Amino acid sequence: MFDSQVHVVTHPLVQHKLTLARSQDTTTDNFRRLVREIAAMLAYEATRDLPTELVDVTTPVAACRMPILAGKKLCLVSILRAGNGMLDGMIDLLPNARVGHIGLYRDPATLEPVEYYFKVPDDMAERLVIVVDPMLATGNSAAAALTHLKRAGATSLKLVNLLAAPEGVRTVRAAHPDVPITLAAIDERLNDHGYIVPGLGDAGDRIFGTK
Ligand code: URA
Repeated sequence: MFDSQVHVVTHPLVQHKLTLARSQDTTTDNFRRLVREIAAMLAYEATRDLPTELVDVTTPVAACRMPILAGKKLCLVSILRAGNGMLDGMIDLLPNARVGHIGLYRDPATLEPVEYYFKVPDDMAERLVIVVDPMLATGNSAAAALTHLKRAGATSLKLVNLLAAPEGVRTVRAAHPDVPITLAAIDERLNDHGYIVPGLGDAGDRIFGTK
């Protein structure tokens, strides 16, 4: 249905935790924890192809040459505000990553995303940029965020979402075919209010307890 650059993580732990997160009976503290844990596992999958190089290391037993990460340094970019709920889990795995933030709102007249906040490191061209947002709904915000990041110099980007609607995946893949997407599930569709069905509701409200 989608091309090989769309990676659905079917690991049983990811799927189990996502199902718990979907339930309307899951409390705010549990929802937050689940999003954090799933985000860490998605980060693990999204970084599967990072290059490594061999270095000398001496264990208490012997000297040897073993792999460490090489290549571009990392930058995580959260699409505000729900993206922030995924950051901690990813930073647990990628403690040296820099973190950027992008705020976008939808113009009520044009329905186009408008940027209200943009703060990223200066050296975006030198980094692998991983954009995070739990919900890939229409895909318009993610596509706009990727465009802004490319304008800021980023040339190597990935997108990580918890959940997507097929429409969102298609929009991002069409606008940014160079950007692979890693996610835990692609659901059925968007409803008339722009929610993913069955989805998990409003991710930001559920992470921050604002409902
Ligand atoms: N954003 C959300 O938080 N939930 C959806 O279902 C769609 C967009």
